[in-house]
This record gives sequence, structure tokens and C-alpha cells, in this order.
Amino acid sequence: MIEAAIYGYGNIGSGVAEVIEKNQERIERAVGEGVHVKYVLDLREFEDDPVREVLVHDVDIIVNDPEVKIICETMGGNEPAYTFTKKALMAGKSVCTSNKELVANHGAELIKIAAEHGCNYFFEASVGGGIPVIRTLNNALKQEKILNISGIVNGTTNYILTKMEREGAAFEDVLKEAQELGFAERNPEADVEGYDACRKIAILASLMSGKSVDYKDIYTEGITKLTAEDFLYAKKMGRTIKLLAMSKLTEDGYLAMVAPVLIGEKSPLYHVSGVFNGIFVKGNMLGDSMYYGSGAGKLPTASAVVADVVEAGRFPGKHLPIDWSEEKAALADLSLSKRRFFVRFDRNKVPEAKAAAEFGNGRVVFLEECPEEYGYITPEMSEKEFAGKFEGMDGAIARIRIEE
Ligand code: HSE
Repeated sequence: MIEAAIYGYGNIGSGVAEVIEKNQERIERAVGEGVHVKYVLDLREFEDDPVREVLVHDVDIIVNDPEVKIICETMGGNEPAYTFTKKALMAGKSVCTSNKELVANHGAELIKIAAEHGCNYFFEASVGGGIPVIRTLNNALKQEKILNISGIVNGTTNYILTKMEREGAAFEDVLKEAQELGFAERNPEADVEGYDACRKIAILASLMSGKSVDYKDIYTEGITKLTAEDFLYAKKMGRTIKLLAMSKLTEDGYLAMVAPVLIGEKSPLYHVSGVFNGIFVKGNMLGDSMYYGSGAGKLPTASAVVADVVEAGRFPGKHLPIDWSEEKAALADLSLSKRRFFVRFDRNKVPEAKAAAEFGNGRVVFLEECPEEYGYITPEMSEKEFAGKFEGMDGAIARIRIEE
């Protein structure tokens, strides 16, 4: 029996205990022996839960127990998860985490510590919930030069955008409903402002480059400014709006961004709806591939943590290398990247001829529902050039990037 511990008995932590219990037979067959949860670390008491029998409040009880070989870190946040994870790795215990914040902040360092102590720092559950995208990048696609990773990596915002599209509803109304149904947090900022997606694409971009992509260097825009009218225009253009997290390899480095984009029906990401995630990966030999599934939620995420437990359990005392160094990856200058933009203009302030004179010959989109305005698809131009024309322009209502 492999002895394990869980740091944090919240939604995901209790899910990990459940997956280990319910799928014990599967786990035993995969690992060659069973996994037993010897300790659960949490500050709270759980009087009515059987977990009380293994509950501890002091991390050192776990770290100092030589029987414990694997730890599932499902605490979330930076501290004390960072300190507790380092303690465990330094004691030679593998750590399997769902904590994207910690992975995005300290992934390379924690992998290095694991390598130095003959154990592992695994983080399958940090991106894409139950979708095995991390192990796919680390194993199945390791022979590939990854050229592009673009994805819908936040379930909450995808749920909101799907509802806005299908019901013609306003952002605030859908957010409220999502909160009532438990699909959005009481404090939804990390999701709706794109911060969660930013951390996830930073992790994917780091694995793509083998170096560290700092999430603070990634341009991030959320979905809070999108309106029902934006979706009407999108529909008229045969498109929809998705919060896209992307990292593309260009001649100037990795071009990374999180922003709402207009994508067309031909894109595989167009069809990723509701709380699901979809991650598109292009390899130089492989070509296109896509990974789709439950991107969040207790059991899908817990299952991914347990997948890491199985992997660590299969190779006791062995460090399995992950190509992610602390050296900073070179990022391309987003302001120089080119694309088309969709802009909404107040027609009383910006006649069509003025839009054409400012932005070049584009395409005009009219909506019966919005007679006082019109939409304009610009020709391809750099972010910098576009911003120079758009920012502060009287009569410009909104703009959304177009993803080809
Ligand atoms: N809030 C996140 C999401 C949870 O909606 O995708 C999973 O990371």
C-alpha cells in the first residue's frame, strides 16, 4: 500500500479522497499496489465526516512521516501551499497539485526541487480540469515542436458566454444566474477578468517553451465589457465570442494573450460550449490536435490529481523529468502582432466613410436591432496601429479581436 496525504479538504481535496476510495481497484491495477490516504491536512474540524479519523492540523506530522510517499495539494493559493509543498518535496515526497496559482508562480522552481530530491511535482489538474493536456504535452507530444496552443481554459466564462449567445442575455444577468447555480464564484473576478485563464496559458506556454513564461507578462482582458449586442453582431457574421487563451510560437518569440475573440464556425473551438474546455495544440510534425472535456468541477479535477498519484506511484523513488526551466522565455511584442478587428461605431458620430478613412477599406455590418450604430471589420493591422486609431475615438462603442 502506498501511503498518501491530502493538503486541504475543500471541494477538490474531498473529491481526491472520493476518487481514491471509489476507484481503489483501478488504481491498484494501474500502480501495482493500492493507495491509502493516511492523513488529511486542514485547519477545520469535520465532526460528521469520516475524514476526522485521519485529520491533522500540523503539516509537520505529514512531512515527518517516512511512510507517506505522495501528497495531493488541493489547498489553492500561494501560501501556505508553497511552503508546505517545498517541505514535502525536500522530504522526498512527490506532490500532485490542482493549484494553478502556485504552479504558474513557482512551477519551474518546484520541479527543480523535486529533481534534486528524487521525487516529482505533478500538476495535471492545474489546467483543463479533467482533460489530460499536461501529460499529453509532457509525454505524448514531447517529440513535437509545439507551434500553437489556443484554448478555452475557463469553464465559468465559457458558461457565461454560451448563455449570452443562446439567450441574448446581458453579462450581469448571466453572471448572477451562474453564481446562483454554483458555476461562478461569489467573487468572480479571477474568472471574468481572465486572470485564471492567464495563469493556465502561462503554464501551457512554459511547457511549450521549456522555459518560464511569467503570467504577469501576458496581456489579459476579461469578458465583463461584452454585451448582448456584441453577440448579435457575432451571429450575423457567422461567428461567436470566446475567451481565448493563446500562445503561438513566432519568429520573435512566444506571442501570448488572453482576450475575448470572434471565432468562426470552422474553428473547432466554436463548438466548445458551457462549462467545457477545449484546447487546440499544433505540433510541427503532428499538425492539429484538440483536447476537449470537463474543464472544472470536483470529480474531473480530483480525477486529474489522482492520475498524477498513479504516475508517481508507478515510479517510486524516481524523478520523471519535466522540461520547464527557470530561465525566462522570450515573449513576442503583442503590439506588433497583426489581426483584423471588429469595431462598433455610433453612426451619427462616425459615418462609414470616416471609418474607412481611419481604418482602411473594411466590411460594414448592419443590425436591424441596432439602427443607431453599425459594425466595421477592419483590414489586418497591428495591435499598436489599431489602438492608436481606436483609443479615444469619439463614437467608437466597442471592439473585439477577430481570430482567423
Ligand atoms: N474557475 C475555474 C474555471 C475552475 O471556471 O475554469 C477550474 O480551474
